[in-house]
Amino acid sequence: MPPYVFRKALSRPLALGHLFKPAVRLAHTTPRTLPEFTLEGKVAVVTGASQGLGQQILAAFAHSGAHGAVVDLKKSSAEESVSTLQKEIQEAGLPAAKLHGYECDTTSEEAVKSTWDKIVSDFGQVDILTMISVNLNGTFLFARAAGKWMIENGVKGNILMVSSMSGSIVNRPQKQSAYNSSKAAAAQLMKSLAAEWAPHGIRVNALSPGYIQTTANEGEEMEKLSKQWVNDIPMGRIAKPEEFRGTAVWMCSDASSYLTGSEIVVDGGYTVW
Ligand SMILES: NC(=O)c1ccc[n+]([C@@H]2O[C@H](COP(=O)([O-])OP(=O)(O)OC[C@H]3O[C@@H](n4cnc5c(N)ncnc54)[C@H](O)[C@@H]3O)[C@@H](O)[C@H]2O)c1
Repeated sequence: MPPYVFRKALSRPLALGHLFKPAVRLAHTTPRTLPEFTLEGKVAVVTGASQGLGQQILAAFAHSGAHGAVVDLKKSSAEESVSTLQKEIQEAGLPAAKLHGYECDTTSEEAVKSTWDKIVSDFGQVDILTMISVNLNGTFLFARAAGKWMIENGVKGNILMVSSMSGSIVNRPQKQSAYNSSKAAAAQLMKSLAAEWAPHGIRVNALSPGYIQTTANEGEEMEKLSKQWVNDIPMGRIAKPEEFRGTAVWMCSDASSYLTGSEIVVDGGYTVW
């Protein structure tokens, strides 16, 4: 019997209720959620996790019980990110997560292969790959390394590509056709891999954000543009990077066990108009 059914059965009024004390009592102050959201003991590899969205997603995984690898262009920034994440976990009063930083340019086939081998040797397993898809080739190379390893080792893992709403709409007023088309290609790669790897129990999905307040959107010109962007966002504001944490955990945990080949757009409503 699942634990929540069991708890419900225990709290049901019984004729002999006054003689019966439930064995399990949850304090009203305990924040509760579905157990399927946990990532306890999983190992997550997140590319581009030195800052921005990648760092937020790995933080969310670590809060949910996962260990993880920060993969980025520079070892120094990856290690700085590891320290930031460890501090956050410690301040939250949670058990320490095992976190390591790796230097890897995801567009280099050789670097992806050697980084992947090193991560597997350091952690002994990988259950989740989340890629900040800054480049289609890099996304393909890292997904291929992960998929190959998961299939060979019988790991029913999760692959999450962080794409963009720009894969399905054209942003305005700025011109960014190269970016938009690379995101559309990433979405199609995600769907193709989802179909090819579903028989192996591997789920592949994409999280596509709208505008986010990260360093990528800083500067005078971006500030001017963002005043126009908010007019097109029903929620009337740009997202904070931490607002993608919950969606990423849901998409990489058993809470989304029937989700594959899906693109989840989180955009404050931008794409409804
Ligand atoms: N910021 C936004 O408004 C926005 C909106 C929609 C989608 N997105 C998407 O979200 C993702 C994250 O965006 P962000 O704003 O956090 O970006 P960011 O620039 O803050 O972070 C990207 C990270 O990727 C790393 N990186 C870049 N090229 C790399 C490579 N070849 N190999 C390894 N690491 C590399 C960078 O060093 C950096 O740490 C991107 O895929 C972006 O396209 C962003």
